[in-house]
Amino acid sequence: MSFISIENVFFSYDNIEDGKPVVNAVDGVSLSVEKGEFVAVIGHNGCGKSTLAKHLNAMLLPDSGKVYVDGDDTCDEEKTWDIRAKVGLVLQNPDNQLVASVVEEDVAFGPENLGVDPREIRERVDAALKAVGMYEYRLHAPYKLSGGQKQRIAIAGILAIQPQCIVLDEPTAMLDPLGREEVLSTLLRLNREMGMTVVLITHYMDEAVPADRVVVMDSGKVLLQGTPREVFSQVELLKKHRLDVPQAAELGFRLRGFGVPFDRVPLDEQECAEMLLEVLQ
Ligand SMILES: Nc1ncnc2c1ncn2[C@@H]1O[C@H](COP(=O)(O)OP(=O)(O)O)[C@@H](O)[C@H]1O
Ligand SMILES: [Mg+2]
Repeated sequence: MSFISIENVFFSYDNIEDGKPVVNAVDGVSLSVEKGEFVAVIGHNGCGKSTLAKHLNAMLLPDSGKVYVDGDDTCDEEKTWDIRAKVGLVLQNPDNQLVASVVEEDVAFGPENLGVDPREIRERVDAALKAVGMYEYRLHAPYKLSGGQKQRIAIAGILAIQPQCIVLDEPTAMLDPLGREEVLSTLLRLNREMGMTVVLITHYMDEAVPADRVVVMDSGKVLLQGTPREVFSQVELLKKHRLDVPQAAELGFRLRGFGVPFDRVPLDEQECAEMLLEVLQ
């Protein structure tokens, strides 16, 4: 069985936002996440990404269908805390996630709540801060850090809980390009070097390129999924759904339209440059 297994999940909000309840914010999604995978989830605002993300650690429970985390049904109340210890959720705004006035206290907050032994907390905090490259900042005040640094502290706070999977809901949306790069490279390192399972929700297509798998959501459904190359080769389908593709894929697609004989869609600038060079030679 997959580490996370989402089986035909439907979810509607019954409270009223913008005058009418939102029916089927998640509209029959089946999806699985394997241990050690890096999955990127993309899609328009309002297509249900955040709602789906909250199903991954039992913050929301399906109206119908099932979500299993490491074999446990998220509807089983006795498993809720196990599930939340296994799947950590990082949100968009780092300011809403930092609670303490000193970085290391902030990172210690999660394991303290779980009642972890103080000596072990010390070890976990140091390891988590090193893993996100923020150990030298352990005694700093979070509010003085840059957006990218704050988000890395928020990620360290989740790592200190020692989850097997980290789900991030548009963690770079409020960051400048440098902060985005810091967060993305941190996630890639956690995945590649520490085997952390990562589910990254993003609206930056370029951030989906290094993923193992890209899942495209549209109107509460999975529109398309596959390797980044499989997904971003479908430029026309994505455009029909008013979705972007990575800049290099867009450029490659247009060049092909002008008759440049590209045999594939380039995924990043480097590849696009290499392909152009080949064609010119
Ligand atoms: N707390 C809520 N109450 C009512 N409706 C909501 C709530 N959160 C999201 N929605 C609605 O559910 C749909 C999916 O939203 P969401 O999961 O946040 O999408 P995304 O993260 O892709 O932008 C949208 O129509 C949104 O307005
Ligand atoms: Mg969202």
